[in-house]
Amino acid sequence: MLIKTIIEPFRIKSVEPIRRTTREERQRLLEAAGYNLFLVSAESILIDLLTDSGTNAMSTEQWAAMMRGDESYAGSPSFARFRDSVQAIFGFRHVIPTHQGRAAERILFTVMCKKGDVVPNNTHFDTTRANCEFVGAEAVDLPIPEALEPARMHPFKGNMDTARLEQLIERVGPKRVPLVMLTVTNNSGGGQPVSMANIRAVKEICSRYGIPLYIDACRFAENAYFIKLRESGYADKTPREIAREMFRHADGCTMSAKKDGLANIGGFLCTNDDAIAQQQKDLLILTEGFPTYGGLAGRDLEAIAVGLNEALEEDYLNYRIVSTAYLGNHISSEGVPIVQPPGGHAIYIDARAFLPHVPPAQFPGVALAGELYVEGGIRTVEIGTLMFGEHATMDLVRLAIPRRVYTQSHVDYVVEVILEVWRRREHIRGFELTHQAPFLRHFTARFRSLASGPASARTCVP
Ligand code: F0G
Repeated sequence: MLIKTIIEPFRIKSVEPIRRTTREERQRLLEAAGYNLFLVSAESILIDLLTDSGTNAMSTEQWAAMMRGDESYAGSPSFARFRDSVQAIFGFRHVIPTHQGRAAERILFTVMCKKGDVVPNNTHFDTTRANCEFVGAEAVDLPIPEALEPARMHPFKGNMDTARLEQLIERVGPKRVPLVMLTVTNNSGGGQPVSMANIRAVKEICSRYGIPLYIDACRFAENAYFIKLRESGYADKTPREIAREMFRHADGCTMSAKKDGLANIGGFLCTNDDAIAQQQKDLLILTEGFPTYGGLAGRDLEAIAVGLNEALEEDYLNYRIVSTAYLGNHISSEGVPIVQPPGGHAIYIDARAFLPHVPPAQFPGVALAGELYVEGGIRTVEIGTLMFGEHATMDLVRLAIPRRVYTQSHVDYVVEVILEVWRRREHIRGFELTHQAPFLRHFTARFRSLASGPASARTCVP
């Protein structure tokens, strides 16, 4: 008989207690934080789904490798192991370590872009957009139209709209497009994968106009596994073979090792262009460090060198993709509107559809995230009107799953909490901003509840 249950492909050697709080305590803490979960102490969170970034549990092999970390300022053998591990998967000539993904972005855009340039991407992540705009370039998102409809099924909803890419290049002229980017998987678009066919098609357009293609590789292993599962011709290939093929089409990449590097900190920037690499390394020395450590300790380089390989193990990827889908499918089968199909690293609840009586101007995502915290101590993040202001096309609440951290019973608990909030959704009210910063306001914004009674009455089960 074939055993069908998919289990966590690891056992637990070290545990971290999580603290329970009462509903009254959580209500008080949330009010004190101005209804912004970024401002709640992590000690008062039971299940933390704020991000999958840097929250990974490391393996015994990674901890063992860290002891081998060589902290030499220059020429550390830890760097050699890091570089070899990166090159074996990504295949680029130059590997430049950085302290995290956004440092790689800053260096890439500073070297390659200038004021008036245009950078197309399937969807820029917020730090990618901010770094691009910081050097005076325009960040243009070109997702396929299906990506803007949360309930719409599509196997590769992360794809770039190649017709619009070509029109854009024709309109502004290739000289103003210093690079094209593809984010795999597309985080801001629901953690959706990009197909190999789309990568190939984008590269073909880039080659025709002489524009380099860079991949934002944060979740490359999850993207490779989706290709294996969904794209014809890839079922018999290993995730590593697929990843290698993905990067063969690119001229370089940026990477946050806090995601599919299975590490807690770190990143890198890769390129095949010798002249560009030299400029990047010069800039690296200015703010990150010498090119053999780039702002990281030798032990961090070791953890990433091992983690990148573990992230490509098929057993791990199967558990990862299936367990994320488990959460999505269990809530959507009860009617909870989510971005379909479930993404690789997160489930995104469509807060506009969940709370149709709360208009976008009253922050339905903030309202839903607050309720999930009060109900069950779960921390999520709003991706919508708070994060993007008037430009938001959707109001989503992201439940990002840290890698190898929570078990199925934790996920079952999360499902139960969401369904409890779903049952009393009509009683949930919106919010009004009372404080906002001039940029990246979601981190520090504060709110006032628009519920008529005291806040505690608002969350009572009817
Ligand atoms: N690109 C993508 C697609 C990302 O998701 C992130 C980070 C970055 C770049 C920047 O990397 O954090 O190492 O500087 N995403 C995290 C998140 C923060 O919660 O989605 P970083």
